[in-house]
Amino acid sequence: MCGIVGGSSKRNVLPILVEGLKRLEYRGYDSAGVAFTANKKITQVKTVGRVADLESQLKKSDESNNGIAHTRWATHGVPNTKNAHPHSSLNEIFVVHNGIIENHEPLRNNLIAEGYKFISDTDTEVITHLINYYKNAGHDFDSAVIRAIKDLKGAYALGIIDVNNPDFVIGAREHSPLVVGEGIDENFIASDVMALSQVTNKFKFLEDGQIAIISNDNIEILGKNGAPKNIATQEIDSTAYTNDLAGYSHFMEKEIFEQPTAVSNSIEGRVLESGPQEGIFGAGFEEALVDISNIQIVACGTSYHAGRIFEYWSHKFLGINCRVDYGSEYQYQEPIKTQKTLLVTISQSGETADTLASLRFAKKTDNPITLTICNVANSSMCRESDYTMLTNAGPEIGVASTKAFVTQLSCLSLLLLTLMKINNKPENSIKKISKALMDLPKNIQQTLEDLEPYKKVAKLIFNKNSALFLGRGMYFPIAREGALKLKEISYIHAEAYPAGELKHGPLALIDKNMPVLAVVPDNEHLDKILSNIQEVAARKGRVFSIGPISKTEITKEGGHINIPKTLDLLNPIISIVPMQLISYYTAIYKGTDVDKPRNLAKSVTVE
Ligand code: M6R
Repeated sequence: MCGIVGGSSKRNVLPILVEGLKRLEYRGYDSAGVAFTANKKITQVKTVGRVADLESQLKKSDESNNGIAHTRWATHGVPNTKNAHPHSSLNEIFVVHNGIIENHEPLRNNLIAEGYKFISDTDTEVITHLINYYKNAGHDFDSAVIRAIKDLKGAYALGIIDVNNPDFVIGAREHSPLVVGEGIDENFIASDVMALSQVTNKFKFLEDGQIAIISNDNIEILGKNGAPKNIATQEIDSTAYTNDLAGYSHFMEKEIFEQPTAVSNSIEGRVLESGPQEGIFGAGFEEALVDISNIQIVACGTSYHAGRIFEYWSHKFLGINCRVDYGSEYQYQEPIKTQKTLLVTISQSGETADTLASLRFAKKTDNPITLTICNVANSSMCRESDYTMLTNAGPEIGVASTKAFVTQLSCLSLLLLTLMKINNKPENSIKKISKALMDLPKNIQQTLEDLEPYKKVAKLIFNKNSALFLGRGMYFPIAREGALKLKEISYIHAEAYPAGELKHGPLALIDKNMPVLAVVPDNEHLDKILSNIQEVAARKGRVFSIGPISKTEITKEGGHINIPKTLDLLNPIISIVPMQLISYYTAIYKGTDVDKPRNLAKSVTVE
């Protein structure tokens, strides 16, 4: 979950590395650092805090043709300059690292016994000393790297420079993403293509176990044992990777307002009023899914909530058993052999370590048909799944997921429709859902027209310590997603409960200081949830409700936010938008860092 970038160029590479780090800050922002070769030595600059602080510490006179840089999300060791990357061994070898070295302790003990001194608390420092150790044992720079990574257990994407080889940067990956960017008279490595989209649109995507040796005029890719590998260069549309606020105050705000377009982009050309198009999940998907008896979804965080909504859809409209697990749990369960299962991973980044490990675990233990619903083409999940549907949300920079969620749900609606077709469900139901799905961008747009109700609720809750979110049926995952949004950006403790569970415990929490946000559906649960709301109001709890019903006031104290009504199965997608905006304005009133909430990172590539 750190971001790394490195490059070798005929021009000054430092501004490119700093810009790359800015684009990678979504991966972590506890500290930042850079190491570069100049005048036969390597200079490093490190700082606690943001890349902007690092930039201000670089001198105008600093220039280099070769360097590596890092923005950190702390795993081993608190965020301070000592633990910030790059880490060096005797000022000769410098390393930036994303990932976790699981066997760092025994390696550290061996290296201490060899006389190496450790100055940081990080797992990364063992890598620098290990490379140094193998160099001293007679290996060249590249073969010392190849030898050293054989000793590592865990996950890593590395950028490495050596004072004695000042024209080279070496990259290596195992379970953490790393791309090579091909320029003219310059070449780069980075955690993702966005970091380099200002300098190239040509990329090679490294596989696990591969290393890249780059200089300004050459790229050499080697396999685990040092044998040369050929990887095709892919041209990626770099205009899709902008990180421009476009007049908005925050990326989260921009991304909330992009949702109508994002949903259009994710369904366009994939569904018509007659139903979903053939082959939208990849050639042969429909044939492969005849007779599936189970759907297993694995995801984390917001993406997990999208999966939980599909679970309800699958049971109600398909009659197919669907189970949803967190990535961090699924990969450690006892493997169960199932009959013809579709395994769906859902991920904005396509690199979330727990989800990716679960995909690999399932492939090994149960051999299911694998589909990923993902926002990043060429991500590990896309490359390792049988079928892919890209969400087409465009880059999501704000740590809090917004447009990723609604586009995941749009793609899951397409999955539902495709499975309905395969399972010969009534044509008129397929048509009705398809038409409503095509109207979804318009419905979402309507929720963005009057922002006052959201600001009003935010003003009433921003100074509270806790909030409760309620929902029933497929609106319960929406309540969970609403609570996640509020807690992650405003730091208000927020919990979601199925509304019927209130009286089994949480009702004890209700008093005038406990705001309750309830999602009210226009379906068979309406009366029941209205009763639950009354139970709260009777105990002086302040209830704010959101739903496609015309009641203007549910309680005197709180208030009701009316949202456009569509088919019951799609209404959850619309109802998340007010929750996102309430969280956004709450964070604004509290003055927290909306796009970079404390302790979090956008892409969680460590377990
Ligand atoms: O990239 P992914 O969708 O796999 O990320 C999973 C979670 O880390 C992510 O959804 C996280 O919960 C959100 N950023 C929260 O808003």
